[in-house]
Amino acid sequence: MYFQLYQHIKKDIIRGKLTAKTRLPSIRSLSSHLHISRNTVESAYHKLIDEGYVQSKPRSGLYVIELELDKLPLPYPNKRKPLEVSKQVVATNPKIQYDFRYGDVDNEHFPLATWRKLSNQCSQPEHVELFSYGDSQGEHGLRVEIAKYLYDSRGVNCSADQIIIGAGIQYLLSLLSALMSTDSNSIAMEEPGYDVVRKVFRHNGFQINPIPLEKDGLNIQNLYESKSSIVYITPSHQFPYGMVMPIAKRMQLLKWAADHDGIIIEDDYDSEFRYVGKPIPSLQSLDTNNHTVYLGTFSKCLLPSLRIAYMILPPKLLELYKKQGYRLYDQTVSWFHQKTLELFMRNGHWEAHIRKMRKVYHRKQSQLIEKIKELMGEQVTIIGQNAGLHILLRVHNGMIEEELIRAAADHGVKVYAVSPFWEKQSQAEASMIQIGFGGLSSEDIVTGIQSLYRAWFYPSNTNH
Ligand SMILES: Cc1ncc(COP(=O)(O)O)c(C=O)c1O
Repeated sequence: MYFQLYQHIKKDIIRGKLTAKTRLPSIRSLSSHLHISRNTVESAYHKLIDEGYVQSKPRSGLYVIELELDKLPLPYPNKRKPLEVSKQVVATNPKIQYDFRYGDVDNEHFPLATWRKLSNQCSQPEHVELFSYGDSQGEHGLRVEIAKYLYDSRGVNCSADQIIIGAGIQYLLSLLSALMSTDSNSIAMEEPGYDVVRKVFRHNGFQINPIPLEKDGLNIQNLYESKSSIVYITPSHQFPYGMVMPIAKRMQLLKWAADHDGIIIEDDYDSEFRYVGKPIPSLQSLDTNNHTVYLGTFSKCLLPSLRIAYMILPPKLLELYKKQGYRLYDQTVSWFHQKTLELFMRNGHWEAHIRKMRKVYHRKQSQLIEKIKELMGEQVTIIGQNAGLHILLRVHNGMIEEELIRAAADHGVKVYAVSPFWEKQSQAEASMIQIGFGGLSSEDIVTGIQSLYRAWFYPSNTNH
């Protein structure tokens, strides 16, 4: 955050919005104005001083220095030519104070010191693997740890040999698509469902068969009527609606797979964060006929930047993976990260981290829900609050999705569209918004929702 602030002020100086000799606001006033800590402002100011953009005058404050613009490095070649505002810039728009982005994770509780220590251990010269490409399927030791963890936590039955590690679900699903292409050329997906995955399948030549959702997940009758013999599904926390598929329906789905000699792709992306009720065993654990491909990720419960996900292949697909030469594809996750994660899991840090994060996220989610209920009451419907790192809000104020997003942005809050999750856009809910809360502090969640309330129910007042 300090870096964003530094960049923002730096840009204003370079573009001439902040002219020479302008006095910057005091640390105290800027931190309270932006609702950020004084340390953050102080760090940004220090960097500006270090790089010669501002100078400190004792007992007076910080002042912008006269710049020789033609000596400045790119990307600001001309003071008078404003840069085009790219999407990226909008995403980090300093006007946005509260970004309810789904996908961000908590940055306060990650055990960085432990991670660094374990990572250092991996760079000792006795690790001969350091000097080679490593196992193309993923490090065996890590796969053993993943298999143990999944057996204990989700009942997943597999050997390390069935696990393929890869840099994210998109990569793994591309690989899987290649393996499945002889089985069928269409894939059934929940409607609405995860748009990113839909794209990946489509890029790999599959047609998508959207299957409507019921209260308890995918409509099995519609699945039977579709021509697909492959289904991608998020049974433990439907994305984006959040319902959990009950055991009876899981059994029906497994029967469908047995009837069609089909494939179920079970994406268990955030089952660690279940706040209400007992977890239901994974589909893979109930499947006695080996029709299920199980997918998991470390993006939610550890770090998305690690880019570590895994896929568990049933024997038939594993055989194809080996026979068709996919082991020639080198591993996409660095050996360092894999090895560090292996040690992290083996030494018990992983279990401890999940327990801690479940509490952290449950607390954040409760604060979010409480604030929404307190301020917005019946004027919104909250959807999907039993698990995960996001909720959906159906807003009953007459605004449609686009207007809700714009009004929020005018009040410094970024919220996200849900309509892209529908394959059939015309059927998307008109006034629904996605709110991710993993990456925000509790304080920001509360103040962010206050701003959102003003944005949606008193939109003429744009004071944050
Ligand atoms: C439904 C779903 N599956 C899987 C993932 C994880 O993807 P990755 O492992 O590529 O980070 C996400 C991430 O947002 C998700 O929403």
